[in-house]
This record gives sequence, structure tokens and C-alpha cells, in this order.
Amino acid sequence: MTLARVSMAHNALGPAAIQPLIRPPMTAEKSHREQFERIPTSVYKNNSEAAQMLAAEVKALIEDRRAVGRRTVLGLATGSTPVPFYRELIRLHREEGLSFADVVTFNLDEYYGIESSHPESYFRFMQDQLFSYIDIPAANIHVPDGTVPMDGVFAACQAYEDAIAQAGGIDLQILGIGRTGHIGFNEPGSTRNSRTRLIALDRVTRLDAAADFLSEENVPRFAITMGVGTILDARRLALMAWGENKATIVAQAIEEPETEVVSASFLQSHPNARFLIDEPAASALTRNRLPWLVGPVDWDAATRRRAVLWLARTAKKPVLKLVDEEYNHRGMGELLTREGSAYNLNISIFNELQHTITGWPGGKPEADDTNRPEKADPFPKRALVVAPEPEDEMLSMAGTIERLVEQGHDVRIVYQTSGSLRTPDAAAAKFARILLEQSSFATGLEAQADYARLILRQIDEKGPFGEHPAELRQLKALIRRGEAQDAAAALGVSPDRLVFLDLPFYENGRYRRFRLTDADTDAMAATLAEFQPDQVFATGHLADPSTVQALAFKALDRAMQKLGLTCSRWLYRGHQPPLKPYEVDMAVPMSPAQLEFKVAAINKFQAHTTPDNLTGEHNIAIAAQYDELGMAEYEAIEAFERWA
Ligand code: F6R
Repeated sequence: MTLARVSMAHNALGPAAIQPLIRPPMTAEKSHREQFERIPTSVYKNNSEAAQMLAAEVKALIEDRRAVGRRTVLGLATGSTPVPFYRELIRLHREEGLSFADVVTFNLDEYYGIESSHPESYFRFMQDQLFSYIDIPAANIHVPDGTVPMDGVFAACQAYEDAIAQAGGIDLQILGIGRTGHIGFNEPGSTRNSRTRLIALDRVTRLDAAADFLSEENVPRFAITMGVGTILDARRLALMAWGENKATIVAQAIEEPETEVVSASFLQSHPNARFLIDEPAASALTRNRLPWLVGPVDWDAATRRRAVLWLARTAKKPVLKLVDEEYNHRGMGELLTREGSAYNLNISIFNELQHTITGWPGGKPEADDTNRPEKADPFPKRALVVAPEPEDEMLSMAGTIERLVEQGHDVRIVYQTSGSLRTPDAAAAKFARILLEQSSFATGLEAQADYARLILRQIDEKGPFGEHPAELRQLKALIRRGEAQDAAAALGVSPDRLVFLDLPFYENGRYRRFRLTDADTDAMAATLAEFQPDQVFATGHLADPSTVQALAFKALDRAMQKLGLTCSRWLYRGHQPPLKPYEVDMAVPMSPAQLEFKVAAINKFQAHTTPDNLTGEHNIAIAAQYDELGMAEYEAIEAFERWA
């Protein structure tokens, strides 16, 4: 049995002493938290801070072991999560002379059935993101081989385990977490003692990888992964997670009992494991979600609203029916004392929630706006809807766009990126075939026929995953653009009100490999300066920082800062989990007919960016939550929060 990409580590190393992780100092607050959190967890402002911290630990580990003549064995992960950490390791190598000459690495996993040269293979990912920039010898690198024939998989997996053992075991294993709770590709059902093996990927995991592979059907069905047991054998474990999409699973892994359903929860029983997460990924931890259960609380307006609405949901009652005992029994006695009585508190929160509801998202002209989410003046407003990829705005706020237009505002939609990577090959091929056929009926269309042949050839030559040549990419962008124009027209927004920015970070990259530059900010700033919006709607603020949405938001934010724009600013959730009622600052109700309109606009897109909210289910759900809290019963609601 050969393992093409697994080279055996040379000298067996004795197990190293367990080295403590750099942990934040113990505080009283931390000990309260520990009632809930079963894994030490550090929360960072952003992923670069966390990545720097972890990379510094790795540097210290390598240097300490080198000082006593030992090599360091690192377990590595792929995916978007570790990218900033790898960038920091590269920086340490280049600027601080950190050498990897005596570092041995083992990657967690590899898709099964793809060649190492495939653009989405984890082998290639590691070359592109780390190995080709550092001085690690090729022989020290181990990635499971995704091309071993089926009857050789068992032996290859055993050989991978043997190679880890021969290297002396893993000193520090880097991990990400999937939305199924997987570490490596240990999908739900993986046992605590599982070892390196072939595994079928979960549907959610395949959907998450669909963007990388340019469609779900291209995503491999199987992968080879280290087992949970293999991972837990590492002497230290560091799991990173970014963005709000990971918040629920992170909280489950940290706070709920260990279970095979969430393989990351097995880190709870490891003596030296730690989570490093950013604030959005920490948002579902009890310390943030229900802070009054964890320790003393600063009862600011947001916490007060959150507490009352949580209590109403837990007690399954409308806000106005909550009673003193319910507050006292759920750790909110202090809040009650401050407010005087449940009666006062209930009314105050009921009114707050009531005031979030408006059918006038651009402000109601000549009305008293003291308690309205949006100011009355100026009227009409120049309203700018910013969509990272065409369709994001329709999924989240088609109903609101329609209202704004109908109420006489000057609505402009800016598509930050072309969304060309979302257009399937089949759509481009269909277009080219029509051109070709048409040119056979008439003379003088040779140039058109040549173009059509070029497109068909490019589709063929690049295969399902290859880089898109410029002409093909441009055609795909135009197809997506046409769909965006159709969708906008359905809501009454004419094509001259649409701006297609085609930001360079997107045009020059592919998923997980995008890099923002000043050119992106400048293009965004020019649009803002020209339109001078009174109102901006944007998304991507809580997204995983590697996503198109997060990068597009960053470009917008930087541009706003550059221009010092102070208009009213609203955030929609886009691909993030929908807003909870306590987070909503503006709720725009929709009638059944308006919801149908919205769904029709979404359906102008042939390929959807996400399977979520295609039928407005998020909007229906939030309307139901408002109803349960005692508000009026609407068919659906589009929700926004203020961008402070
Ligand atoms: C990758 C791996 C996976 C990822 C997880 C998160 O080697 O083992 O467990 O860490 O799927 O992926 P990203 O970081 O892309 O969200």
C-alpha cells in the first residue's frame, strides 16, 4: 500500500511534556461562566487578534522544542477559519525568522475522489495558504490521500495513524468547526474513539462547501478524516471559529453535554483544549445570550429588552401577561426591583417593540417621528440598498424595497460584486448555443458565432472547477446582472437605478481566496459620494470574515468612514441567522400579496445563493414571534437593526 502524499516522519519522538496554553487570567466573572462553559474559551474582538495570539503560541512551542532538540508536530486544518492564522505564521516566518525546517505536519482531512492538483483539494489549499510560503521540507508534510482506491482506504488510514504515532504524536492540533459540529470531517454520529477513516459528508457540510465547488452537486460525497479519537490524542487542541453562523453550534459544543451528535463537544474531556472565537461566534454563549444567569449585569436598554422577550418566550406568554414571580424565578429580580413592577416593565418593553413596527421604512412624511424607527425628514429620501452579491437584497428586503419605491423615495441598488461565480456553466452554455444557432440562420454574424464557440470551448476546457477565463466570467456576470435587473424591475426599480460595481476583490479571486484592496474601498466611496444617500441598507457585518458578504461590508464600512457619511444606516441579515425580536430596530410588515411579490422577485434568479428564505420562511417566522409576544398578527416581517 502506498500513500502518495503521506511521508513517514523520520525519528520517533518521545511524548513531550504537556505544555499549558496561554490562558486568560481567572476572574470572578470567569468562575461564574464556568458553570455553563465546559471548555476554556477566549473571545476576541476579531479573528486577526485571535490568529495572532495562536500563532505566537505556535512560535513559542516550536522554539521551546527546538531548544531541547525536538521537532514540533502540528495538526492542521483547512477551510476559511485558519486562513488568518496561516497568514500570521507566514508573517512570523518572513519578518521574525520563524523556521519550520523541523516542523512536521498532519492535516485533518481530505476530500475523497479528488486529485491533489484539484483547486479545491485540501492538499492544494495547504500549499496555497501556507506551505509554499514557509521553509517546511516537503517530506514533513502529511495530508490524507483522497485518491487511494476504495479497497486500499482502510490500510491508508491505518498508515496515517501509524505515521502520526511514529512522529511522536501531535503536539498541537488546530481545529475549525463545521455547522454540523464536526471537527475534521467527523460528522454527527462519529464516536469518541473513532480513528482515521472514510466518512460520508453531511448535507449541511456539502451545502457549506457548495460555493467553493461552484455548486452543490460538484461537492464530493466522501472524505478521509482523522477520527475523534485521533484528534483527542493530540497533546493540545485549539479550535477557532468566526462569524455568527457558527454561534449556535459553538455554544452547543461548549455548553451542552458531550455527544456524538456534535463531535466538537468531545473537547470538553480533553485536559488541554481551548476555543478561540470572535465576538459574533460567541453571541449564543449563555454569558452573552442570557447574561443575567451568569453574573451581575449592566441593565442597558438592549439587555433589558432581551431579558423580557426571552422570559416571554420561555414562559410562552405575551409580554403584557408576565408576572413578578416569573421575573424572580428566572434570575431577573434585580431588574424588577429597578423597574418597580412587572407591570411597568412589561408596558415599557411592549411599547418599545410596538415602535419597531412601521409600514414606512423611509420614514413617514410630516408625521411625529419621536417613536418611529426612521426619521420623517428629508422626504423623499435617497435610499441606497447595498447588496454584496445580486440576490442578497431580494432575499432579505424585497418587500421593503417595494415599499420605499411605492412611497416615492429615490431607491438605488448597488451590487458590490457581479455574482458571476453563482451563474452555472449551463446558463452560459445555453446562451452561447442560442447565439450559435442564430448565426446559422443569418449572414454577417461570424463574429457572434466565434464568440459563442469561444465560450463553449472555455466551459469545456476549464471543467467543473477550473479558473474562469475572462470572457466566460464576463458572460456569467452579465447573465446574473440580467436576473438582478428583472428582479428589481418586478419591485418597480428601473435599470438606471442599479449600479453594478464588480468590485475587483471578487473579480480577481475565488471563494475563500478573496483579498480586499484599496481599489474596492475607492469604488465604493465613489458611488457613495455621487449618490449622497440619506439612508443606507447593508449586510455582512457579522459574517465569517472570509466570505464575500463580510469583505463587501468591510469595503462599504471603510468607504463610509473615509467620506465621514452620517446618514441613517440599517443592517439586514442576508446570509446570517435571522434577527431575533430583541435585536430588531425596524420591523416592516408584509401582507400575503407582498410576500408573493417578494418570492416572485427572488425567483428571477436561476441559481440561488442559499437555500434559505426562498419562500420567505424567515419573514413568516419573525411575524409569528411578534404575534406570540402580543403584537399584531402579520403575514410576514422584514427586520432590520440599526448600524450604530
Ligand atoms: C477542515 C476541517 C473542517 C473545517 C470546518 C469549518 O480541515 O477539518 O472541520 O474546519 O468544516 O470550515 P470553515 O473554516 O471553512 O468554516
